[in-house]
Amino acid sequence: MSSQTPPTSGPTRRGLIKGLGLAAWACLVGAAGLGLGAVLRLISSGGGPAAPGPVDLGPPGSLAVGQVREQGPVALARDGQGLFALSLVCPHLGCRPAWNKESGRFLCPCHGSSFALDGARLSGPAPRGLAHLALQKGPQGKLIVRPGQDVPPDTRLKA
Ligand code: FES
Repeated sequence: MSSQTPPTSGPTRRGLIKGLGLAAWACLVGAAGLGLGAVLRLISSGGGPAAPGPVDLGPPGSLAVGQVREQGPVALARDGQGLFALSLVCPHLGCRPAWNKESGRFLCPCHGSSFALDGARLSGPAPRGLAHLALQKGPQGKLIVRPGQDVPPDTRLKA
């Protein structure tokens, strides 16, 4: 009487292991290709995500000193020196701060950072203030702001 197992006609254990090894290798090569593609896209885009297009804020209207008008990712505000635009992307982790008229501050809902009218950081984990954005007058006196195009915080538009 023999204790050998009879030969099978299906896949062998060795063949199954070899097949799994090839599949794992194909996954690794594919993942490396995707990673290389992402790196190449990042390099070709200048090292960062594409900046959003210009935002039309309309005419300045009757925005008084100390007032804020929010539009999407941008706030238009006026202080004693003139008009300026702030990015409403929190420099902590990217949430959207909103103007709080009662406190006279921009408040970030995520982790409690607060910012003054001029965007300066007042409290919370944000490492710096809100970015000032390039603001210019366009056709028919409309104000155009360019998110992603930062300017020094003392930049003002007289309007
Ligand atoms: S994202 Fe604004 S405080 Fe964290």
